[in-house]
Amino acid sequence: MKIQKICCIGAGYVGGPTCSVIAMQCPDIEVTVVDLSQSRIDEWNSDEHLPIYEPGLKDVVTKCRGKNLFFSTDIDSAIHAADLLFISVNTPTKTFGLGKGRAADLKYIESVARRIAEVVESGEKIVVEKSTVPVRAAESIQRILKANTKPGVSYQVLSNPEFLAEGTAIQDLISPDRVLIGGEQTSGGYKAIDALASIYEHWIPKHKIIKTNTWSSELSKLAANAFLAQRISSINSMSAICEATGADVNEVAHAIGTDSRVGPRFLQASLGFGGSCFQKDVLNLVYLCEALNLPEVAAYWQQVININDFQRRRFATKIISCLFNTVTDKRIGILGFSFKKNTADTRESSSIYVCKYLLDEGAQLVIYDPQVSREQIISDLTHPIISEDPERVERLVTIATDPYKALSGAHALVVCTEWDEFRGYDFQKIYDTMAKPAFAFDGRGILDAEHLLELGFHVEVIGKVVRKNNMIPITPPAEN
Ligand code: NAD
Ligand code: UDX
Repeated sequence: MKIQKICCIGAGYVGGPTCSVIAMQCPDIEVTVVDLSQSRIDEWNSDEHLPIYEPGLKDVVTKCRGKNLFFSTDIDSAIHAADLLFISVNTPTKTFGLGKGRAADLKYIESVARRIAEVVESGEKIVVEKSTVPVRAAESIQRILKANTKPGVSYQVLSNPEFLAEGTAIQDLISPDRVLIGGEQTSGGYKAIDALASIYEHWIPKHKIIKTNTWSSELSKLAANAFLAQRISSINSMSAICEATGADVNEVAHAIGTDSRVGPRFLQASLGFGGSCFQKDVLNLVYLCEALNLPEVAAYWQQVININDFQRRRFATKIISCLFNTVTDKRIGILGFSFKKNTADTRESSSIYVCKYLLDEGAQLVIYDPQVSREQIISDLTHPIISEDPERVERLVTIATDPYKALSGAHALVVCTEWDEFRGYDFQKIYDTMAKPAFAFDGRGILDAEHLLELGFHVEVIGKVVRKNNMIPITPPAEN
């Protein structure tokens, strides 16, 4: 089966970049990305700002849009015309009902499956789960489609999880470590797997395309994110030991990462991982284990999240204890609000939680991020999960567009995101304008701590002791 037309439902961080790269690499295929949100689609069609900030994305979109890449809200027409349909809608953690706070909410997936069944009138269609879903979600999609199939229509449901990371999405899509495709182990299933593989084969070597059964593919996505998150929680747990003993977490990471069985990547200690995927997918896995009556396995993975929560609180507690156990009414400059550099995405950013803990203590925060908008920061900090008093947040928080102004008069600067520009600041100039003693808290280990010490800063870095006088501050135990 040769794919000529693709429809991608969901024009978000995954659907948009993934289909833009497919369109660029497959000029013979027409790709239409659809979404319910008119404003999102308008932004994809705009020459000014795309709805997401991603290095290299604009070039790819500009190259293909209007030729073989289209963005539209006419969902039904695009479904009707396509041979292959990607489902790239969001699958957030449930906020109420059964499995609240852990299970993935599949309501958007279900509504897309129902819409496909309603719209498709004839022919063979391949429906591809691109979204991250619990194991056996394909079975639910299959059942909804089967129960509503019109005569003359047949479906194959595949799992093709996405492994791109934000900030490097285009590079990850052009040159992925692997592409994973799971499908039914039947002749129809194999045919559909091969049809999807033939799209990727336009630019990805065959040996990088892994073909499995549907459930292995679905589970592998959750497992991959759980393993990656676990690595960060493991190194972050070591960072706490380093700070208490004088070991240096970077030296430890290097020493263990040079073992080829461990490998060097993803061992950067931080104030905790953020992003829309890790927490959601690990919790999804925990819920799955509980549902499968595997409480020990569930507890094992839950601990990855517990350590992450601990790390965020530990970092905030260190700031408060160093500032003489009170930050009330003290101006604190926050550098970085996105969950990692090179993205404007703030979903589950550790910065939100550190700001929350400081706001709970009455600190006056001045926040600077090179990409995140004022509206987004205020919306995150006034979310009911973060604050019960939005007016108080608005009173205590100022958003700065100039980092030097943000830090002028501040008692402390706090690095929450590893934006490259932070490394190049004139810290003498910053030090001169700050309240004394001036404190620097580096939650990413990106600043030149020795230089800051020489300038007169009191410096705290995740995972190492850099204080000149070697005084260990009295840190009250982190509370949950
Ligand atoms: P997103 O929120 O950025 O985008 C989802 C889009 O789907 C939204 O624009 C929404 O309006 C649209 N949508 C929802 N229901 C719809 C419907 N019925 N019809 C049409 N459009 C609909 O989400 P995302 O970050 O792109 O994530 C999508 C999926 O991919 C999730 O399952 C996520 O776990 C997974 N994933 C995300 C990343 C990432 O880096 N963001 C990486 C790998 C996998
Ligand atoms: C992640 C997975 O990497 C990707 O494969 C999947 O498709 C989606 O989820 P993403 O969340 O976009 O991607 O970014 P990632 O680079 O994984 O970083 C996640 C968080 O971990 C960020 O907050 C980052 O700063 C943090 N991190 C990452 C660390 O604290 N230390 C590290 O060594 C690596």
